[in-house]
Amino acid sequence: MSKDKLTESWYFASPIYFIHKPEWVTDLDKLSNTYIKLAKEKNKNFIDERNKSWGGDKKDHGLVHHSTSLIGRPGFKKFTDYIEATTWNLLDEQGYALNNYKIFTTEMWVQEFAEAGGGHHALHTHYNGHMSGFYFLKASEKTSLPIFDDPRAGKVMNDLPQKDPNSITPASAQVNYTVRPGDLIIFNSYLPHQFRVDDAYEPFRFIHFNCRAIPINDVLSKYGEKRTDDRNEKFESHLDEKTTDDRNKK
Ligand SMILES: [Fe+2]
Repeated sequence: MSKDKLTESWYFASPIYFIHKPEWVTDLDKLSNTYIKLAKEKNKNFIDERNKSWGGDKKDHGLVHHSTSLIGRPGFKKFTDYIEATTWNLLDEQGYALNNYKIFTTEMWVQEFAEAGGGHHALHTHYNGHMSGFYFLKASEKTSLPIFDDPRAGKVMNDLPQKDPNSITPASAQVNYTVRPGDLIIFNSYLPHQFRVDDAYEPFRFIHFNCRAIPINDVLSKYGEKRTDDRNEKFESHLDEKTTDDRNKK
């Protein structure tokens, strides 16, 4: 019996964007040193307590040295401007109507995995955001790497075995990237991701950020500035000028 060839159409795909931008590595890595140093100092108490509880010196095994927020910090503006502009462009290309929206970086940290190995990120998504990303400062084929999981809960709950889990196919449940310093990965924030357990053969450090699109008129109104949708329109506001009692009298 002959085999029909059915027309195939793809919908609801999840893009992951990648670019190699090595020109920022030296400066951002240097700027990050202080933040990582402070993060390591902050973890010392936890390490001491853990050693007291379990005995021996476990060092920083299993930890991720996670900085305070980098938002608004000196030296990170050019990078932040780039990711915000790129986020707007990517969401625009995806088909979102963003004319009245502005992109804000709502979270940004630098983190370095444990010197004693075992650093990792469990599977997670970033809520209340639209685009997320990583910029790698220290990484190699010997370090941890990012893994993305299928965001479709229905597929995950009722999945089937794959013929070859190492091939990227419509049946794939995960994809991963081997990364090097200067790699920038951006993805929609609904995409679950994790970082494989690191063996500490070499240092692994990266900046992680989340961006949110916010209706600009809400922001302008909040700060008393002219709304962009007021420029060609005249709005009458009877309700604002009358009290509840006035309205009830009518
Ligand atoms: Fe994350």
